[in-house]
Amino acid sequence: MKLHITVLPGDGVGPEVTREAVRVLRTAADLYGCEVSLEDHVIGGVAIRECGAPLPEATLRACMQSQAVLLGAVGGPEFDSLPAGQRPESGLLALRQALGGYANLRPAIAYSAIADCSPLRSEIITGADVLIVRELLGGIYFAEPRGFEGGPCPSAYNTMRYSEAEIERVAHVAFQQARMRHRKVTSVDKANVLETSQLWRKTVTRIGREYPEIKLDHMYVDSCAMRLITHPGSFDVILTENLFGDILSDEAAVISGSLGMLASATIGGKVDLYEPVHGSAPDIAGRGIANPLGAIASAAMLLRHSARLEQAARDIEDAMREVLDAGHRTADLARGRAKRAVSTSEMGALVESAVADVTDRRRAYHAV
Ligand code: IPM
Ligand code: MN
Repeated sequence: MKLHITVLPGDGVGPEVTREAVRVLRTAADLYGCEVSLEDHVIGGVAIRECGAPLPEATLRACMQSQAVLLGAVGGPEFDSLPAGQRPESGLLALRQALGGYANLRPAIAYSAIADCSPLRSEIITGADVLIVRELLGGIYFAEPRGFEGGPCPSAYNTMRYSEAEIERVAHVAFQQARMRHRKVTSVDKANVLETSQLWRKTVTRIGREYPEIKLDHMYVDSCAMRLITHPGSFDVILTENLFGDILSDEAAVISGSLGMLASATIGGKVDLYEPVHGSAPDIAGRGIANPLGAIASAAMLLRHSARLEQAARDIEDAMREVLDAGHRTADLARGRAKRAVSTSEMGALVESAVADVTDRRRAYHAV
């Protein structure tokens, strides 16, 4: 089997974490006889600097011709003063639109080895394993009209809009994911105030009837924001719209203990896109201390969804767990422990060798 991937390291810590994700991806794919070819391209701030645009034509073309895209991060403080359409983030949003993936899967898992990294008490997070399914191509991020209005009292406006079809397709993804998990979907909206949410709730309820084995409940986003940190273990799949999903997924990072742990996969379009949830973290960029596990877990999701190598994905996830169980921590997870924090590349190397061990051990076991 062959897999052609476009790699977009991007800005800030993006290149550092992506390098480690690629290393682990290559090793895991190799162990499963999958031949990986990779092609690097620029996006975001680095693309603005080199090509004058956040999503150059050549980058987009390469992405469209590959089987999957692995992205690091985009953005940086030096671009903050640019108008919205010229910022690094607009390159990412344009890429998401072009690739067409509308379902963004963001798992947040409480790893027992790093339970003490969460500000939440360990009895609250123990066993928590949430999958946020965030609608990624609709809502207030993309709808028109949007803009600024001048005059004596300047104003600005955005539009939140959803069509039934947009809600239906992402709802199907959430129910299908729930089938492979604990069979529960919590649909999150603001139906007490917003028309888009009323349509959301009605549509999700209707689609839910096609999945009688899945328990569906509805929650307002404000209430969900609270329950996510008071009772994270009570959730299985959270299905929500674009902006709510953006906010709730960062919040869900407290379950894992660090935003650096979170991975994502965007599926449903022409080409699937994989990226850690964290941003470019300019404050620590270039120092080799960023946590690559979110990027590595995104590579695992790539093998699962784009290469259909479920076992290879699991091996990477098991390897991550083993490395954490053995006490290795990047700086964001170290929290004043006596043991020295490992660098970004040391963490990548640890996971890479653990992947080989995990695979070997499982194969030896099955051979007996
Ligand atoms: C994310 C990010 C992006 C988003 C930004 C960088 C455009 O915050 O992937 O969560 O808002 O979707
Ligand atoms: Mn975000």
